[in-house]
Amino acid sequence: MIELKNLTKRYADFLAVNDLNLSVERGEIFGFIGPNGAGKTTTIKIMGGILAPTSGTVRIAGIRMDEEPEKAKQKIGFIPDRPYLYEKLTGMEFLRFTADLYNVDAFFKKAEDKLAMFSLSDWPNELIESYSHGMKQRLIMAAALLHDPEVIIVDEPTVGLDPAAVKMLKELFRHLAGEGVTIFMSTHTLKVAEDICDRIGIIHKGALIAIGTTEDLKREAGVTAADLEQVFLNLTTEGLI
Ligand SMILES: Nc1ncnc2c1ncn2[C@@H]1O[C@H](COP(=O)(O)OP(=O)(O)O)[C@@H](O)[C@H]1O
Ligand SMILES: [Mg+2]
Repeated sequence: MIELKNLTKRYADFLAVNDLNLSVERGEIFGFIGPNGAGKTTTIKIMGGILAPTSGTVRIAGIRMDEEPEKAKQKIGFIPDRPYLYEKLTGMEFLRFTADLYNVDAFFKKAEDKLAMFSLSDWPNELIESYSHGMKQRLIMAAALLHDPEVIIVDEPTVGLDPAAVKMLKELFRHLAGEGVTIFMSTHTLKVAEDICDRIGIIHKGALIAIGTTEDLKREAGVTAADLEQVFLNLTTEGLI
């Protein structure tokens, strides 16, 4: 459902993403983990067709991003690390705007479904600037799911969420994955990945240094404790311990 082949990104002479190869299956929740500056956001922007790679290819549901970007993007629900909302629109107007970008039909039914799903049904006609932080985050999710994407790509989804919102997000992702949606999420919070992801890839200095289930990774790092944190430290810390 998602396929990255020899993906590389250079910023001038700095190698931000280094020959990444990765496949994520339909209905899988994949966690992309790495310390700050590892290359997660760069990879995600390339996957979403927002940034062109220096070399390598991205396929979404079999469609090459470089060859048919609009068709590939139509398959994706994309949630960036710093989403932008037009604060002078109402929640409903923002959904309408998003729906028009994605050619969503039966808009009102879908908008109502998504507003209900994210507990926003009581405020569709209020300006976004009056929404709380949590409401804004839920509106971003609602907008990203409006066109029923086959693939969800989300950068650090739990940053700034309270525990109840994190729980809701986990349940939502599990539900969507159960329906066959493929989910790719980056995080530096290992606990989130461990709780929710079917497989995890660890990216360090632009390269994928380990991939597998939590159990696989623990075995690989020679860690017996039930702690993914230690795996992460073992794999990404050099010369310090
Ligand atoms: N536009 C850019 N120009 C130059 N360097 C960049 C740019 N964007 C990111 N970088 C660098 O690339 C590396 C990876 O960044 P990023 O993908 O944002 O990492 P992460 O999301 O894992 O924290 C970092 O060292 C960052 O400073
Ligand atoms: Mg980032």
